[in-house]
Amino acid sequence: MNSLLMELSKKACAAFQKCGYQYELGLVRTSDRPDLCAFQCNGAFPAAKMYRKAPSVIAGEVAKILKNDSDFESVSVKGAGFINLDVTDEFLLRFLNDMVEDEHTGVPQTEKEETIFIDYGGPNAAKPLHVGHVRSAVIGESLKRIAKATGRKTIGDVHLGDWGLQMGMVMKELEDRGKLSEKMEISPEEWDTLYSQANAKKKLDPEFDKAAHEITYKFQTGDVKYLSAWKQIMDVSLKGIREMYDILGAEFDLWHGESDAAKYVPELMDALDKRNLLVDSMGAKVVDVSREDDAAPVPPVIIKKMDGSDIYATTDLAAIIEREKLCKPDEIWYVVDNRQALHFKQVFRCAKMAGLVEDESKLMHLGFGTINGEDGKPLKSRDGNVLKLSDFYEGVYASVLARAAEGKDREANARKIAVAAIKFGDLINFRAKDYSFDLEKFTSYEGKTGSFILYTISRINSVFKKAGEVELHAPSEIYTDSEYNLIHILLSTGDKFLSAYEDKAPNVIAENAFEIASAFSSFYAENKALAETDENKKNAWLYLMSATKKILLKHLDALGIEAVERM
Ligand code: ARG
Repeated sequence: MNSLLMELSKKACAAFQKCGYQYELGLVRTSDRPDLCAFQCNGAFPAAKMYRKAPSVIAGEVAKILKNDSDFESVSVKGAGFINLDVTDEFLLRFLNDMVEDEHTGVPQTEKEETIFIDYGGPNAAKPLHVGHVRSAVIGESLKRIAKATGRKTIGDVHLGDWGLQMGMVMKELEDRGKLSEKMEISPEEWDTLYSQANAKKKLDPEFDKAAHEITYKFQTGDVKYLSAWKQIMDVSLKGIREMYDILGAEFDLWHGESDAAKYVPELMDALDKRNLLVDSMGAKVVDVSREDDAAPVPPVIIKKMDGSDIYATTDLAAIIEREKLCKPDEIWYVVDNRQALHFKQVFRCAKMAGLVEDESKLMHLGFGTINGEDGKPLKSRDGNVLKLSDFYEGVYASVLARAAEGKDREANARKIAVAAIKFGDLINFRAKDYSFDLEKFTSYEGKTGSFILYTISRINSVFKKAGEVELHAPSEIYTDSEYNLIHILLSTGDKFLSAYEDKAPNVIAENAFEIASAFSSFYAENKALAETDENKKNAWLYLMSATKKILLKHLDALGIEAVERM
């Protein structure tokens, strides 16, 4: 079904056309002055320029047509040519009922057949996930769900960092500890120390660094011993990574990694060679991707290092070949930290130059900012080290659990609420911005929090538990202001999903979920459905509660947040 603004625009566009003006001029939007009217159309202004007429005259003509439409409660021309619109209660209620019955809960479906490939998560094997990894998983999952909700086909790929130097470093460290073998026995505790120790050594000891590079080259070129170690490290790493993503509800269709893309490196080299793009630079092979109008310098992208090994850009380019073969995606979204913007600029340009894609704009880096501590600096563990994602999550869970109500689902609920707190606290911010993690604030039952949204749903559940078996039907009257406000916000759902998709902005959905929950709070305080003796009112209010729950769940689903039955 159409969104509310699409539906109203259709009416106004037709009216413009009927008066002899261009159809598209009738775009309707939410009013800037909700105290005066709910919707407005400002098309008379551009029309005035196009047709050399006074905007008020055009607005008057269009308004005259719209007044014949019984869905409008009022149509008036204000100021120099604004058309102010309000719709009837019957129209609002009809629209709400259509949404409730719609299989997509009022979210318009695209007519195009599109496949969106989403590269998110991006964990590195051999290193524990740290708190910084939460954003890609959470934002990527939500973007994927928003694309799906609007009718696109989506493919989510975790794109493991499994082909880089960090693997060589960990193997060298294992070798130093005399542990590198066909069947390695490493306890989880020891496992946790491997990468940090290797990293410390690499910085101090050039020999260690050199050996780690050599090992990297070896497993990349098929050395049996190191490839066997590589597989074992992958098994252990993947177990931990999967566990964490399960908790966070990140559901990947593909568990591919750099190592899968590496198979396409020869093809990449061919494509670059054929176009004479490879240049030798101090023993490395690079491609010059700079453009004359670059405001800031864009350095050449390194394809093969001096020692012949592949690096980050190499596998990212090869992965484009892999993905084209796999599903010919219409767009590829990279949900990766803002700090990698230059890397993606280089890769995308090179992909275009090498002919891997026809249109560079289908490759999109959807960057995000950092999670800071209360001091405004990137969030760290208490001892000032990198904060492991599992420790971060357990901290939030412990705090939620301490406040959770007694009952049989206490722990399972607390886990869901903790995840909701983390995810909602992240998604309420526009992704490109940094934000500060504040445990107290994020887990509060009030304000823009996951708990507030889940609490709203649990309140509705408890009303229906008390109400027992009720048969509800679409109401025909709106009785109170708080009811009217809630309905208006619910009806904006389709438009919000469209703009969240357009701007790749889950915060639009999170914000709307909050608006709905707030409007529900006022409605709930004012209208006592259970105590109401007028059967029509009682039906209308219970119906609205059930619709609110359904629409809120649609929002939560798009955010990748699970609700709880009771709180
Ligand atoms: N593993 C990378 C990192 O930790 C992120 C991967 C993002 N995706 C990509 N295709 N480059 O920085």
